[in-house]
Amino acid sequence: MIDFVIEAMVDALFVIDPDGCVTMANSAAAHIIGCSVEQLRGKQIASLFIDGGSGLRTVVRKRIGDGDILRREESFLVASDGKKIPVSVTGSPVLDEKGDLKGIVLVARDVREVRQLLADNEAEIARRRKAEAELLAVNASIEEQLAQSRQMLLLAERRATLGTLAGGVGHELRNIAQIQVAAVDELAHVLKTNGDLAAITRQLLPDLERVGEHITQHGHRLIQLARPGPDHVAPIDLNAVVRDVVAMLRLAGKLGRVDCKLLLPPEQVTVTVNRTRIEQILVNLVTNAVDAISGAGGVTVEVEPSADGSRVVCSVRDTGSGIPSDKLEKIFEAFYTTKGENGTGLGLSVVREIVASYGGMLTVQSELSRGTTFTFDLPR
Ligand SMILES: Nc1ncnc2c1ncn2[C@@H]1O[C@H](COP(=O)(O)OP(=O)(O)OP(=O)(O)O)[C@@H](O)[C@H]1O
Ligand SMILES: [Mg+2]
Repeated sequence: MIDFVIEAMVDALFVIDPDGCVTMANSAAAHIIGCSVEQLRGKQIASLFIDGGSGLRTVVRKRIGDGDILRREESFLVASDGKKIPVSVTGSPVLDEKGDLKGIVLVARDVREVRQLLADNEAEIARRRKAEAELLAVNASIEEQLAQSRQMLLLAERRATLGTLAGGVGHELRNIAQIQVAAVDELAHVLKTNGDLAAITRQLLPDLERVGEHITQHGHRLIQLARPGPDHVAPIDLNAVVRDVVAMLRLAGKLGRVDCKLLLPPEQVTVTVNRTRIEQILVNLVTNAVDAISGAGGVTVEVEPSADGSRVVCSVRDTGSGIPSDKLEKIFEAFYTTKGENGTGLGLSVVREIVASYGGMLTVQSELSRGTTFTFDLPR
């Protein structure tokens, strides 16, 4: 019966005598090694097993010799073709009734399949780790690309804004140049007609000085746009700025036959702002008002303190064409114009930007065929 059990075992079984000589082996052992059971009998166990390090033999001799049990020792069986077959060896001593060592029973389990499974498992883990790392790398690169795109969009946005503002400056320079051209024309005319050169020079000199100042400040503004820094602000009298601007526009022939009325408080209205920027606002609003008037009509520029006195409110009113209600928001968009070639559509967008930079609001009220009022406020 015991023979059948031994034969039925899947694991290789060797019984060796105390000298390490095989006295018995089963078919599984013969099968793994690739020989017959008979050929195994009498072989030295040392020739069947090899192992690195201290070696099974030492362990067998020492541990089992001392009556120990050997549990799952990693070793190799040497097949007859020389191949090394990984096995897990369990060994136990066979003792006689006196307790003397009569032999050793060694059971070797072929662990190739288990090892292969482990190796496959490890390969699978490594493959997954690699895939995970690749995914992380792809993620990182997508995030980097997103950040780059965001940066590029911001840059494009800023360039567009700067382009609009630079266009606004160009628009102002063109307006100012017209004043200078008109002044030069007038001087040339007085020279040609032998008029009162001293009187006209006295009259034009402050305006030409203002033109020079404007061009310088607009030049600064362009530099600031390229390298943004704070606008130079100083306390100025808003009444004086309104008077100067209207006078300049009149001189430039920008008012035509339009009657321009000023409603200014008798006392100075001091605001701490950048003078050129305020002039920009007024030039644009008054020019628009005049443009809206065909034939006879009037423009009124009014300055008054706000209800609580903390701010100054300025309005530019005309008796012109008015603005259709569905266009009341559109007019503030950059490049929106109904003036064709004669307009850039930048005026109001620049005005709104300047007013907002002082924490103010630009609002419009309009009635078709009756006229329009633009109102803005500034801090005192
Ligand atoms: N006071 C006004 N009355 C009627 N329409 C106006 C008035 N002000 C502005 N608009 C309308 O708003 C549009 C935009 O004005 P904005 O000042 O921005 O540009 P523009 O006057 O057309 O061009 P630019 O300022 O370069 O001369 C004008 O084309 C016009 O249709
Ligand atoms: Mg305009």
